[in-house]
Amino acid sequence: MTIGIGLLGLGTVGAGVAQILASPEGRHPLVGALSLRRVAVRDLQRPRPVSLAPEIIGDDPAAVVADPTVDIVVEVMGGLEPARSLILAAIAAGKPVVTANKAVIARHGAEIAAAAAERGVYVLMEAAVGGGIPIIEPLKQSLGANRIERVSGIINGTTNYILSRMAAEGADYAAVLADAQALGYAEADPAADVQGADAADKIAILAGLAYGGLVDRPAIPVEGIDRLQARDIDYAGNLGFVVKLLAVAQRHGSDPDGTEVLDVRVHPTLLPRDHPLAGVNGVNNAILVEGDPVGRVMFYGPGAGAGPTASAVVADILNIAAIRGLGAGALDPLLAAGSWRRCRLVEADRTCHRNYVRFQAADRPGVIGHIGSCFGAEGVSLQSIVQHESEGPGAEIVVVTHAVEEGRFRRALAAITARPEVEAVQACLRTL
Ligand code: NAP
Ligand code: HSE
Repeated sequence: MTIGIGLLGLGTVGAGVAQILASPEGRHPLVGALSLRRVAVRDLQRPRPVSLAPEIIGDDPAAVVADPTVDIVVEVMGGLEPARSLILAAIAAGKPVVTANKAVIARHGAEIAAAAAERGVYVLMEAAVGGGIPIIEPLKQSLGANRIERVSGIINGTTNYILSRMAAEGADYAAVLADAQALGYAEADPAADVQGADAADKIAILAGLAYGGLVDRPAIPVEGIDRLQARDIDYAGNLGFVVKLLAVAQRHGSDPDGTEVLDVRVHPTLLPRDHPLAGVNGVNNAILVEGDPVGRVMFYGPGAGAGPTASAVVADILNIAAIRGLGAGALDPLLAAGSWRRCRLVEADRTCHRNYVRFQAADRPGVIGHIGSCFGAEGVSLQSIVQHESEGPGAEIVVVTHAVEEGRFRRALAAITARPEVEAVQACLRTL
């Protein structure tokens, strides 16, 4: 028995998938049963790193979906449209779908889930989060008995690669981003990586799996690394922290009607050097899942790139192929899990965390005292307050707070910045 594969996209990930399918030796025996039948690209003239029979490559993705020899549709083209419509067309045709497209799942997951449930077809997405790291299936299945308290992680390879090289080598931001693009880590538009949108798509998917209800993706607070300054990475280092782009989904409480209230967010974060995520460097990702009764489980590995991502895509194909072999056409448990609970995001001013703030202020007696008093008036306890030489006139004052409710912290900041001797808040980062 052979299973026909239709590939939508032959870029970084698509080429990685084609390479695995073309060399089944030494892999799971089912890989040998997969036959690449048809491929769609945008530009037929573009050179490809894999050699495929020219007659299977075209520029009409709808024709791949409709091809009767294609049993499983693999969407690795990216973007929202036409990816969404093609996934829905495959489902309507009763064809299982494997996708690496977190953007489309995070925004149109409910629609896709409903269509797949109605038609009884699988839509698998292991590659959408964490590249080569198995995290979707473990969260769906292996950790299913747990009450999940928190899922936190470094889930964007491009930004972790950039931050790691900036911290280790003092490398230039733009040059390292160009390297990440050349290595195939970055999205077609790297703004999605550096501004945090890619990590937000992924944490929205993980939150949906961990808490059993979809969250409103556009409402997730997101801050990327594009406005991060090298001096804050240095100051954080002096205080014993490393800076990482962290994505977090955690339980905050529940409404009287049982709606789960979640704190879901993405932002650069100061991690104490001994935190398990602090040593995750380069393109590696890590996801820390904290649940009852399992405790802490960490998933670690390469979070982007052709090989790792294709590994996850082909694993999903094998999953479907194995189930087809057993003659099933059942509903994907992920899709069923998409709606077992209502979830909503917590109001921003009720979240609670530590903070790092850098003020630019006049260098005169009493400034540090005034800053301390404003924080004290709002009940914000300080862990440290350090004055640094400023490049220009005045002083830089770096404060690290203990955990505090965001509303109180913001009110204290407003009171501080209203003082004439405080010129500006130059940086404000969260701290674990
Ligand atoms: P990519 O290198 O830009 O490849 C996209 C492919 O899709 C290209 O072959 C492109 O054709 C084709 N394509 C795009 N729009 C098309 C259209 N309208 N019609 C026909 N073909 C079209 O992207 P990628 O890095 O492989 O990423 C693909 C997906 O995987 C994205 O959803 C991404 O978020 C996800 N992902 C990527 C990684 C990674 O490390 N790169 C990891 C995990 C998930 P041309 O080649 O002719 O331009
Ligand atoms: N652009 C993404 C990243 C690809 O850098 O993590 C993997 O999803």
